[in-house]
This record gives sequence, structure tokens and C-alpha cells, in this order.
Amino acid sequence: MADLQSIKARFGIIGNFPALNRALEKSIQVAPTDISVLVIGESGVGKEFIPKIIHSESKRKHQPYIVVNCGAIPEGTIDSELFGHEKGAFTGATATRKGYFEVADGGTIFLDEVGELPLQTQVRLLRVLESGEFMKVGSSQVQKTNVRIVAATNVNMMKAIQDNRFREDLFYRLNTVQIDMPALRERKGDIHLLFRKFAIDFAEKYRMPELQLESGAVHYIESYAFPGNVRQLRNLVEQMTVVETDRNVTVAKLAEYIPMDSHLPMVVNNPNSQKQTDFGNEREIMYKILFDMRNDINDLKSLTSELIKNRGTSDLSNQEKNLINRIYTPEAQQNTSPNSLLFFENNNQTVQNPTIISNSEDHYEDFEDIEVEENRPESLSLQNNEKDLIIKALEKHNGRRNRAADELGISQRTLYRKIKQYNLED
Ligand SMILES: Nc1ncnc2c1ncn2[C@@H]1O[C@H](COP(=O)(O)OP(=O)(O)O)[C@@H](O)[C@H]1O
Ligand SMILES: [Mg+2]
Repeated sequence: MADLQSIKARFGIIGNFPALNRALEKSIQVAPTDISVLVIGESGVGKEFIPKIIHSESKRKHQPYIVVNCGAIPEGTIDSELFGHEKGAFTGATATRKGYFEVADGGTIFLDEVGELPLQTQVRLLRVLESGEFMKVGSSQVQKTNVRIVAATNVNMMKAIQDNRFREDLFYRLNTVQIDMPALRERKGDIHLLFRKFAIDFAEKYRMPELQLESGAVHYIESYAFPGNVRQLRNLVEQMTVVETDRNVTVAKLAEYIPMDSHLPMVVNNPNSQKQTDFGNEREIMYKILFDMRNDINDLKSLTSELIKNRGTSDLSNQEKNLINRIYTPEAQQNTSPNSLLFFENNNQTVQNPTIISNSEDHYEDFEDIEVEENRPESLSLQNNEKDLIIKALEKHNGRRNRAADELGISQRTLYRKIKQYNLED
């Protein structure tokens, strides 16, 4: 039986993460048997290595190995592709044709994206798995075949079963042994190794010097979530090898290709969106989200404050008091609006008796003698800032509105409107 290192070398598999090693070792172990194997993992994690290892380490290795991408074959022709058809079985069936299960007799079939199989094909597949028997489409003659099945899926099979899209009996038949392939983000330590491998491969392919990651860039790439896993990393390195003139890869350069914010569902889930590669837009979206969140938090704080005012604090649990204390510490305030230091609604007064936090020694002192500003929503403070800025710009340009507007980066019309709005007319 081959050992792990020789298998990795033979197939060019990079990585040392325990879960990856376990998956590869399991493949080597089950290879000599005829047991069905189901490989589960996200797209791009390297699922296709598993059936190749299994086939090459089995007694079937000199027999056919056939890969079927179940998701790519139209529903109308898949039975015929897999099991063959008789002449005249359907329009266009001008001759009898062998299917993969007949051609692969004695060998291995890899059913990729098996979760996509139509239900009627699932019935045929179950039969061939259980008895080795199948019939060509349009034929009533039972044929025998001896095929080892390895299947793979990136869909949640339990969900597919619940939704009646996948037969439970077939699932258990395929899943005699399950091999889980870890996502790349779960094995961050392998990311740099893979980057280097692909950098070497593509440098050779395109006859360019190798790309090198700067140390900050290593950290950056290791914190990236890689929704497309190794395939995405490979494509990234290929693209950068060809496009970038500087062989030294900086954080800024990486950020152009894989912006950190791209795990935002609104960006990733929209395949038509250009925003994934547009850092400026991403940042705008982030700001918008942060701004909305901040407003929500301020609203929540106001609500809590109201509730506490009405309800008193005596029946709060210690846990609740601690939580409130944590939210309303001065440090926390710096991250949100100072206006939401609202706790006891008394405008511009000093909090003398912070009963709420009285059982939490940590921050008790912090809360004494804190100036509490009036409780007003964040947007008003923005307005105040805006008003101040307009006054300053007007002063700087001696009241010349066109120049002030230029400086503020707004149109003169907007400036006129704001001057009116804030009563700055004189
Ligand atoms: N551990 C790895 N080492 C080297 N290349 C890998 C590794 N995992 C995946 N790849 C490469 O990433 C790409 C995607 O792998 P693939 O097996 O097609 O993914 P999946 O079938 O899970 O979607 C392939 O080019 C494959 O060679
Ligand atoms: Mg695949």
C-alpha cells in the first residue's frame, strides 16, 4: 500500500493539514476494496484527487476510469449516457450505444456532483449499485457490469434528502465510506505552501520569474476566506503571474484581487456584480453597513435606556448589568456615538449614581463623573459637523460661496440650500 507522502508527490497534492492527510489516508485504505465512497466538500477543495487515488491504488487500475459530471449532462440524455440506449429508443437514437457503466466494466466511475442526478436516474443507479444490473434505455434486457463507484458532492445531501431531491436509500448506498475534504480557510497553514507551488508552476508555464509574497501579504492571504478554495487560489496565482509586472506581491496588490470584504453576501452572491474586484465600491458598501449598524445600535441603546428608566434596575440580573456595563463603558463609547451615553437621560449632567453597574467593580469608577451629553441621534451630530465645516469654509474664503463650495466638494446650489437650512445667511 502506498504511503501518504508518495501519494502526495505522485498527484502533486500540497498541504499538511491533519484533516487533509486523514482524507488522503482514508482513500489509500479503502482503495483495494470495492466499497462505494462519497467525497464531500466545497467546490474547489480538491475532491477529484480522491477517486483518482482510489482507482490507481486498486486492482482495477489497468481498467477504465471514467469521470461523469452529473451536473453538466442534460436531464434528457443522462440515462442514455450512463446506461446506453437501444437503436430507436428515442428520436435521434440511430444506433445502439454503450453507456459508461458498460464501458467501465471492471473499472471505476467517478460520479461528480452526484447530488444533481435526476430522480429517475437515481433509481437506475441504485439498482446497478445493489445488483450490478442495468438496462439500456429502450431495452428490456438486463445486463451485468462490475463497476466501482466513487461519488462526490458539494451540496448538503441531508437537505437534498429532506427536500425529496435525493433518495435516502441511494445516499446510504453511496456513502458506505465518507471522505470529507476540508475547506481551504480551515487549513490556513497550507495557503502559502499552495501559493508557492502555483507560483512555481505558472512561472514555468508562462516563462516568467516566480511571484513572491511579502511577509505582510502572507498574513493577508492567510486571513482571506477563499470561497472558491484551492481552485480560486490557483486562478489568482495564474492571473497575477501573467498580469503583474512586479514579482513582489504586496498587501495592496493582493487587495485588488481579493478584497477582504468580499465575504459580504451581497457582493459574493451577485454573479453579475463587478464589485468584487472594485475596492472603492466595496468600501462604500462597508461604510453603509457600518453606518446603518451604528444607527441600529443607537436606537437599541435608546430603547434599553427607556426600558431601564421605566422598569428600574433592581430586577436586572448580574449578567444583564454586566452586559449593560460593557456596552456603556467609555471605551465602548469611543466606537459609537458619544450621544448614546444616554443612560439616565439627564442632559449635560453628571451621573452621580450609576446604579445599573453597581455590582460590577471593573467599571464602576469609570462611570462616575462622566459628562452625559444630551441624548440625540447620530444624524444630528453629523449635521452639526456639517454646519461647522460650512462655517469654516465660508470664513476661510471670506464668504465667497463658490470657493467654499469647491473646498467642501459640493455644488454651489447645495451650499446655498445648506446655508439657508442652517440660517448662516449673514
Ligand atoms: N491540495 C492541493 N494541492 C494542489 N492542488 C490542489 C489541491 N487541492 C486542489 N487543488 C487544485 O485545485 C483545483 C480544484 O480541485 P478539484 O479537485 O477540481 O476541486 P473540486 O472537485 O473539489 O471542486 C484543481 O486544479 C486541483 O488540482
Ligand atoms: Mg470537481
